[in-house]
Amino acid sequence: MKTGILLLLVFLAVAVHALPAGSEIIPLPKPQRRGGMPLMEALDKRQSIRSYSARALDMQDISNILWAAYGINRGDGRRTAPSARNWQPFDIYLIMADGWYLYEAGEHALIKLGDEDLREHAGGQDFVRTAPLNLIYVSDYERISAVSPGNRELHSATDVGFISQNVYLYCASEGLGTVVRGAIDREKLHEVLRLRPSQRVLLGQTVGYPEGR
Ligand SMILES: Cc1cc2nc3c(=O)[nH]c(=O)nc-3n(C[C@H](O)[C@H](O)[C@H](O)COP(=O)(O)O)c2cc1C
Repeated sequence: MKTGILLLLVFLAVAVHALPAGSEIIPLPKPQRRGGMPLMEALDKRQSIRSYSARALDMQDISNILWAAYGINRGDGRRTAPSARNWQPFDIYLIMADGWYLYEAGEHALIKLGDEDLREHAGGQDFVRTAPLNLIYVSDYERISAVSPGNRELHSATDVGFISQNVYLYCASEGLGTVVRGAIDREKLHEVLRLRPSQRVLLGQTVGYPEGR
């Protein structure tokens, strides 16, 4: 992509998401939207894994994981996961050893928000600090403001389950390990990810190669 377009994207992303100046856009490789394991076999293998090898994920893995999770799969901007009235309230933050990022589904890109290793804040379980990737699912209540506060919680809790299950199935298909996690310090994550008041941290999900692979 041309430098001018990238700079414009950074400018727009900073303006729309109120991101820190200096945020960097990193285009992801195109997701591999064909192939993988037959669905019934992936369902057969779906499980939670809590022991990970130090092996890094490459950019193609990350691209595929994010597209499976919540990528755009149709020309009208709809996604791989359903959402109540197509509000699409979620943002996915990525916490990795070399920094923390936001998934920009429209461009299928990462926005690098900082260089710090925030894995110590991504959850209390030991494997969270060493696994290569922790996804943090964040709902923006401003995008679901047309319903009552109770329904905002209901829709967010429901929508995040679809996203998380997409990641489970992709990981099962590719021999990756994953576990969705509710045992997280949501207030701390809200602070360190510098979220807006309208945003709520719902769940974390660790992804990596299982121990021994
Ligand atoms: C909403 C939710 C929160 C969860 N929180 C955690 C967690 O904090 N830590 C963890 O190790 N597993 C967590 N899990 C994973 C469950 O423990 C796991 O899905 C369950 O034991 C069944 O195992 P399976 O996924 O291998 O079928 C969570 C699952 C869900 C759906």
